[in-house]
Amino acid sequence: MQSRLKIPLLFGQDVIHGYKTTFPIPLAEAASWDLDAMTAATRVAATEASASGIHWTFAPMVDIARDPRWGRVMEGAGEDTYLGSKIAYARVKGFQGNKLGDVNAIMACAKHFAAYGAAIGGRDYNSVDMSEKTLWETYLPPFKATVDAGVATFMNSFNDINGVPSTGSKMLQREILKGKWGFKGFVVSDWGSIGEMKNHGNVKDDYEAALSAITAGSDMDMESRCYKNNLTQLLKDKKIDIALINDAVKRILYKKFELGLFDDPYRFCNAEREQAALNNPEHAKLAREVAAKSIVLLKNSNNLLPLSKNTKTIAFIGPLVKAVKQNKGFWDVEIPGIDSNFIVTQWEGLQNKLGANTNLLYAKGCDIEGTNKDGFAEAIDVAKQADVVILSIGERRDMSGEAKSRSNINIPGVQEDLLKELLATGKPVVVLINAGRPLVFNYTAENAPAILYTWWLGSEAGNAIADVLFGDYVPSAKLPITFPRSVGQVPIYYNHLNTGRPAQNDQNHIYNSSYIDESIFPKYEFGYGLSYTTFQYSNLILNKKKIKASEKIEADVTITNTGKYDGEEIVQLYLRDKVGSISRPIMELKDFKKIKIKVGESKTLHFTIDKEKLSFYNQQLQWVAEPGEFELMIGASSRDIRLKDNFELLK
Ligand code: BGC
Repeated sequence: MQSRLKIPLLFGQDVIHGYKTTFPIPLAEAASWDLDAMTAATRVAATEASASGIHWTFAPMVDIARDPRWGRVMEGAGEDTYLGSKIAYARVKGFQGNKLGDVNAIMACAKHFAAYGAAIGGRDYNSVDMSEKTLWETYLPPFKATVDAGVATFMNSFNDINGVPSTGSKMLQREILKGKWGFKGFVVSDWGSIGEMKNHGNVKDDYEAALSAITAGSDMDMESRCYKNNLTQLLKDKKIDIALINDAVKRILYKKFELGLFDDPYRFCNAEREQAALNNPEHAKLAREVAAKSIVLLKNSNNLLPLSKNTKTIAFIGPLVKAVKQNKGFWDVEIPGIDSNFIVTQWEGLQNKLGANTNLLYAKGCDIEGTNKDGFAEAIDVAKQADVVILSIGERRDMSGEAKSRSNINIPGVQEDLLKELLATGKPVVVLINAGRPLVFNYTAENAPAILYTWWLGSEAGNAIADVLFGDYVPSAKLPITFPRSVGQVPIYYNHLNTGRPAQNDQNHIYNSSYIDESIFPKYEFGYGLSYTTFQYSNLILNKKKIKASEKIEADVTITNTGKYDGEEIVQLYLRDKVGSISRPIMELKDFKKIKIKVGESKTLHFTIDKEKLSFYNQQLQWVAEPGEFELMIGASSRDIRLKDNFELLK
């Protein structure tokens, strides 16, 4: 070791959705609403990464994102604070395992602190202008959840909030994170963000940038070198006290101790363990399961899906059918010596699934982008020979991700034109939409008989898609983010305020809060997703209709599988606080349960409503539950509310 004081190095990497085994992009996984699956997936990522000498991942990203133009929606858990907080907790637990110091545990990093997802116009790195109430109510809770889960590190963010760059925000880092929340780990800057404060116009030079960031509580400088080049001088000039540096150093060294690196700086490097971890067949198995759980069934007219495995001829068409790396989505990890052969393509997935009785035909049809329609004729020809057509279209994997904001979120190129031609053959067409964000695809939504939103599913994409297409997995995922009809509706999210002039429908625009040229409703709402089976909701029973703040309400609801397949349902509980000292959203997710139910079977679910679920930040930013009436809604999505009741919180 070269270090004078024998201080071991930390190796960090963006292990965002898997290391060698690539899991679905985080937004896709969020659609599973399956917290155990997400903990298991991050556990696998940590097991593989730690065996390759990685101590630290820059994940999870827990930024709430309500704007699909923002390319980094793919990296988070979507728009909802409650679901996002649960997922944030689950992912930290997965990365960090039982405890830091175990050789298969890596440090997690909650990022980007804070409100990075609220960039104005959905343009990456843009400013954020936000009330303290929205910050506390919507954007901070997932970060707090990571602290509760014991997250080792935080990363601050590129954006400014109300004119203060997060990197230099004392309020965020010292007062809230290290003060109020008692966070004992360390804060790393984002890539170069300390130096970038010069561009924000908050500091004159690197010297001032270092002063601002260290004072604000950024403990480690990622890449800008402002600390390396200026902290000593700042000390000499008595601009900072050594206690500030000692605090930052202590926080970082403490984590190195916890990881066991002072006992053995190479304890994470073990070729044998690495071989075993990177070739564990259980990891691929889990990736396949999680991928299947992430696929959202958006439409299924006349129960076209699932397809029969005895279908004679299937035409598999589109620019993503034989694509390899695309399936990984953005933020995959490149490991020297291991290439993308490890990906099961969509074509291979179908081949693996189907026996000799099925004739599988292929045509590319067109590229993802561009105007070239030369491949259409071949695609139409192939479609005509088939009993059913499957069309795989979408974005390029690097059209979402960091610095990948789009002002137009349509399906690119001539892909929807290709669909039109294929539908004209009269053959049934199942559309797979591959993307890192909600896209706008009204033609497809209205005309294709069946649609699966497959996002980017990772290493086992092909197998998982085949499992869902042929009914070996009955889809259960629900959208963790609203899908707009047009980019003009953005930002659009389900838990908005009512306004003084709420619109009830799309017919009447007279002096109400609506558009004269667009619906007020999204294309697909938060929490939406179909199954091959159907579920009936009944018997909502509240044990009390009036409670004191110290009491709880127990709510039971019965769910029956009334369809033809065993399946899983994600039952969602929403609340509305009817009158508050400040206006409350029309509904807020406050609980959910994912349950498996066999055909014909009924299950009773049990929810508990306590004071915590009724509380919000009032004007003084106090967390309070105010007496009054509440509406309780149980639904299969934020619009598909099946059962309702009211109760009262007494004075
Ligand atoms: C991103 C971070 C990432 C870092 C290191 C930055 O540009 O914003 O999320 O962890 O790079 O790769």
